[in-house]
Amino acid sequence: MKKGIIVLTMLWSAHVSAQVTFSENIAPIIFEHCTKCHREGEIGPMPLTSYAEVSASANIIEYVTGIRYMPPWTPDHTYRTFRDENVLTDTEISLIAEWVAAGAPEGNPDLTPPVPVFPEGSQVGEPDLVLTLEEPFLHLGNNADMYKVFVLPTGLTEDTDIEAIEVRPDNKNICHHAILGVDVSGEAAQLDAATPEYGYTQFGGFGFNPIDNFFSAWVPGTSPLVFPPALGKKLYANSDLLIQMHYGPSSIDQTDQTSVNIFFADEPITRYVQTVPINPNNLDEPFIILPNTVKTFHGTIEVPVDVSLIDVAPHGHLICSSYEVYAVSPDGQDTINIIKIPEWDFNWQGLFAFPNLLRIPAGYTVHCLGTFDNTAQNPLNPNDPPQVMTWGESTTEEMYLCFVQFVIYLPGDENISLPTLNEEYMMVYPKEQLFACYPNPANTELVIGYHLMKPHEMTLEVLDMQGKRVATIFDRKSMGMGYHRERFMLNDLQNGTYVYHLFGDGFDESQRFVVSR
Ligand code: HEC
Repeated sequence: MKKGIIVLTMLWSAHVSAQVTFSENIAPIIFEHCTKCHREGEIGPMPLTSYAEVSASANIIEYVTGIRYMPPWTPDHTYRTFRDENVLTDTEISLIAEWVAAGAPEGNPDLTPPVPVFPEGSQVGEPDLVLTLEEPFLHLGNNADMYKVFVLPTGLTEDTDIEAIEVRPDNKNICHHAILGVDVSGEAAQLDAATPEYGYTQFGGFGFNPIDNFFSAWVPGTSPLVFPPALGKKLYANSDLLIQMHYGPSSIDQTDQTSVNIFFADEPITRYVQTVPINPNNLDEPFIILPNTVKTFHGTIEVPVDVSLIDVAPHGHLICSSYEVYAVSPDGQDTINIIKIPEWDFNWQGLFAFPNLLRIPAGYTVHCLGTFDNTAQNPLNPNDPPQVMTWGESTTEEMYLCFVQFVIYLPGDENISLPTLNEEYMMVYPKEQLFACYPNPANTELVIGYHLMKPHEMTLEVLDMQGKRVATIFDRKSMGMGYHRERFMLNDLQNGTYVYHLFGDGFDESQRFVVSR
C-alpha cells in the first residue's frame, strides 16, 4: 500500500514537472496572437503583456480561445489562407486549456520571452500625402457604436498613381474598422455640410454610390495594403477621400483624429487595380428577406478574361450570417475556393488579401453565396418582431455585397506576393535569441521561435542526448532579420528528451524538449 502511494506521488510529480507554464508555453502564444490588440492604447479591452495580466484573465482566455472567438479571424482558414492570418492551432488551444486547468502556473520567469515591442509610426515609410480628420471627432461615452463618414479633400490637382494606402487610427481604443472610398461628385461634402457636426453619421457605407466605393479597408491587426511593383490605384484630381469609421462602444468620452497615409507610385503603374462588386445585380431574384426566414442568395459572375485576384472583402450587416465565394470551371471539374466566412460578424469585416495573386481563368464562374437569418432567434436581428429586409445602408437594412480587387492576369502572377508588413514579423526583440518551444512535452509537432537582429545563414537541427543529429529542420538557409517560427513534425522521434540547436554566423543556442506520447 505504502509503495503504491509513493509510486503514485512520483508519477504525479513527474506530471507536474511537465506542466504547461506561462513562461515557456503560454507567453509565446499570447505575445504572438493577442498582444498586438491587447496592450496599452489598443483596441483590446485589457492588456495581455505580462504573467499578472494574462493569469488574471485565465478563465475567460480559455473560454474565448476555446470557442475561437479570439483572436478574431472570421474566414475559415482551411478553405483559403490569407495574409496576416491570425488563428490558433488546436494544439495551442488545448495548451491554454491545460495551463488553466493546472492553475495557470507561471513557471520560471527567466524563460518568459520579452514582450514584443510594436513599431510606432508608419509601417510603410515616409508618406507622400497625409490626410487627417480636420478636427478631433468626439465619440461620446454612452456605450453605443458610432459610424461616421469623414470627407478629406485630397487637394490633388491631377490624377495620381498610388502604390500603398495606410490607415493610421489615432485612438485605437475606439477605432474598430474603416472603409475608404473616393468621391469626385461633391456629394459626400454636401452630406457633411447638411449636418451640424464634423462628418456625417452613416451605418453601412457612404450614403450614396461614389466613383470608388472600395478604395481600401482597415481592421485592427492587419497590415497596410501595399501593391506589388507596377500595380496600383488611381486617386483622381480634385477628389475627396471618404473614410467611414466604426467607433466601438466606450463608457467615457474619447476623441479620435485618424489619418490616412498615401504613397505615390515611384514607378509608373501599368496595371491598375480594379474592383468588381458582387451585388444584387448578380442575382436572378430580388434582394428581399421576408420576416422569419433564413435565406441564401446565390449570385454569379462569369469571368471574361484571366484575372489575378488581390483581395476579397465580403460586406453585410446585422442579419447576415455567412458568406462563401468560389469559382468553378466551365466543365464543372475544377473549383477554386476564394473565401468562406461561416459565421459573419459585422464587427470583424475587412479586406482579406491573398498571400500570392490568385489566378481565376477566363470562362470560370464566380459564385457568391450570402445567407441572411431574419428570424427572431437571431439575437442580432435589429427588428423585434422581424420585418421585411431589403437592400440599403442603414442598420435596419441589409447588404449582399462582396468586393473583389483584381488585375488582368499576366503569366507569373502566381509568384507575386503582396508585401506583408505584419506586425508579428516586426516585433522588435532586444537581442538575438532562440525561444522556448511549444508544446513541451510534445507529441505530434513542435513550434520553435527565434529572433535575428540581422540576416544570417542558419542551421536548425535536432539532437538526441548523445549529441547525435536526429533531424535537420533546415541546413545553412538564409534567414532574414526579425522573428521567425518553424513548425517541426515529430514523426518517428521516439519518446525521450532532445535538444534543438540553432547556429550560424556567430549565433549558437540550444534548448531542450521532451517527446511524450
Ligand atoms: C485584432 C485585435 C484582437 C486580437 C488579435 C485579439 N483580441 Fe481579444 N479582443 C479584441 C477586442 C476588440 C475585444 C472586445 C470586443 C469584442 O469582444 O469583440 C476583445 C475581447 C477579448 C476578451 C474579453 C471578452 C469579454 O467578453 O470579456 C478576451 C478574454 C480576449 N479578447 C482575449 C484574447 C486572446 C487570448 C487573444 C489571442 C489569442 C486575443 N484576444 C486576440 C481584440 C483582439
